[in-house]
Amino acid sequence: MGYELKEVDPETDFPEIARCLFESYEDPPQKFFSVFFPIHGTGDEARREALEEAAQRLHFWHVNDPSSYWQKVVDTDSSKIVGGALWNIHKENPFAEQKHSEITWYPNDSSREYVAQALGKHVSPRARMAQRAHVDLYIIFTHPDYRRRGVGQQIMDWGKNKADEMNVEFWLDSTPYGRPLYEANDFVYVYENVNSPERENPDEKWKEMEEKIGTFTFWVMWRPVGGKYEGGKTIKPWEQ
Ligand SMILES: CC(C)(COP(=O)(O)OP(=O)(O)OC[C@H]1O[C@@H](n2cnc3c(N)ncnc32)[C@H](O)[C@@H]1OP(=O)(O)O)[C@@H](O)C(=O)NCCC(=O)NCCS
Repeated sequence: MGYELKEVDPETDFPEIARCLFESYEDPPQKFFSVFFPIHGTGDEARREALEEAAQRLHFWHVNDPSSYWQKVVDTDSSKIVGGALWNIHKENPFAEQKHSEITWYPNDSSREYVAQALGKHVSPRARMAQRAHVDLYIIFTHPDYRRRGVGQQIMDWGKNKADEMNVEFWLDSTPYGRPLYEANDFVYVYENVNSPERENPDEKWKEMEEKIGTFTFWVMWRPVGGKYEGGKTIKPWEQ
């Protein structure tokens, strides 16, 4: 029995990737997940539609972004996808120009505005600090039935090798559940991003989003070029 890290096949894998991604962020539940991947409504049909939409969007984003690199981890016995990762391999500063993707996964009301604000806040610390070529781990997940078996570590090893090969920094935004993995890999925490969209006179849709998502925190984590961080010695390029 083993777990093999492979590149995804964009034409066939995204439905299974989406299912594994949802189940990974549902156990334990992480409310911010519906900023990116909502289920509109309740019941099996709503969930099926959400998974289908997610798979299509993951495919669309992947094929339209030259920096996108998707990996899956497969159980060699069952051939099931048990984990995965979305990388953005930035050969240049990705923040040199502003990019906005249209938020198609929320209706055109204040719930969409809420998500736009949350996404803007999510990216802003790194847009300020990571203005150089770098490796970015945008999504990582291991299915709850396969945790603590080295799946996440295989993904991290790949990323560290890639960053070293390119001689660049490695950045990611961490959930509370990701932090032990990144700390085990010598990442340094550089910013606490407390995300809580706000607006004057919130309407019902906005209030529903507040209720559903609430304040969520990501820790911006960094691995310097070469991977060795020494407190008080290693230069943080964005502080120069
Ligand atoms: C974070 C996550 C991807 C870790 O995946 P994983 O496959 O279980 O991680 P690994 O088994 O490779 O762990 C490697 C090392 O990281 C550390 N680690 C990982 N999870 C840990 C945990 N829950 N508690 C303490 N240490 C942990 C340990 O040092 C571990 O080595 P060990 O098991 O020999 O002690 C997984 O918990 C997950 O998908 N969580 C939900 C989704 C999520 O929040 N993803 C992170 C987004 S930033």
